[in-house]
Amino acid sequence: MELDHILRIAVRAAYAGAEVLRSRWKHLSSIDQKGPNDLVTDADIAAEKVIIRKIQSVYPQHGIVAEESGTQPGSSEVRWLVDPLDGTVNYAHQVPFFAVSIAFARGDDVLAGVVLNPVSGELFSAQAGRGALLNGEPIHVSPEASISDSLLATGFPYERSHGFEAMAERLLRCLKEARGIRRFGSAALDLCFVACGRFAGYWEDRLQPWDTAAGALIVREAGGVTSDFSNQPVGSDARQILATNGRIHADLLELMRGGTR
Ligand code: 2AM
Ligand code: CA
Repeated sequence: MELDHILRIAVRAAYAGAEVLRSRWKHLSSIDQKGPNDLVTDADIAAEKVIIRKIQSVYPQHGIVAEESGTQPGSSEVRWLVDPLDGTVNYAHQVPFFAVSIAFARGDDVLAGVVLNPVSGELFSAQAGRGALLNGEPIHVSPEASISDSLLATGFPYERSHGFEAMAERLLRCLKEARGIRRFGSAALDLCFVACGRFAGYWEDRLQPWDTAAGALIVREAGGVTSDFSNQPVGSDARQILATNGRIHADLLELMRGGTR
């Protein structure tokens, strides 16, 4: 299977989904509340339909794992992980920091990924072993070697009933050490900002596979490192992620685990 072609289809599908998001976000008509902070819009569902249709028109036999419509197993060992709208809360509040994220995986190995911000037009992409690109130009992680020189990013889960204290403690430890911490609200874009050197590191817990699959590949292909908080590799089903420029990975891991430095 030709990965170049897979990536072209992913890019085409991402632009189609982005068009749906862009055309609707200034006049959102109906916002349903799935949970307290879990807003889902008509646009989200409409974008996902368009993306899946694009993929299935070329690869009807491939599996699809998508945020809104769930899993369609397909008849081959490969699958696409689709988040039609990463940064849903930003979208619903008209903050222009959200993305379409599409990844292609064989088993647990993510082989291609695309993250597109429909407002800024920034398109991040990667193929396994071929490097990462921003709008066609190669990108690389940042050079900082210490947390005190690093701008970091994180995210907070919607679910607040358990694990929230551990999350706050990790945040506090990092706040004490880092140059600064940002919370922008789209895991896919946060990962891409690590890939292109804007952030030296990013961590978040309780994510879904479609949030991180494309962005984590883009980080690795830009020379960065990804793991969970125990330094285990993250595949296509990651729920927890630490992504860095590599040089601060060990120190940030220590802060995830509760160590002081
Ligand atoms: P979403 O906008 O697609 O829901 C914000 O912290 C980031 O985490 C976003 O990328 C958001 O994705 C994701 N996220 C947080 N909690 C989530 C959950 N319970 N399920 C899926 N994604 C979640
Ligand atoms: Ca998401």
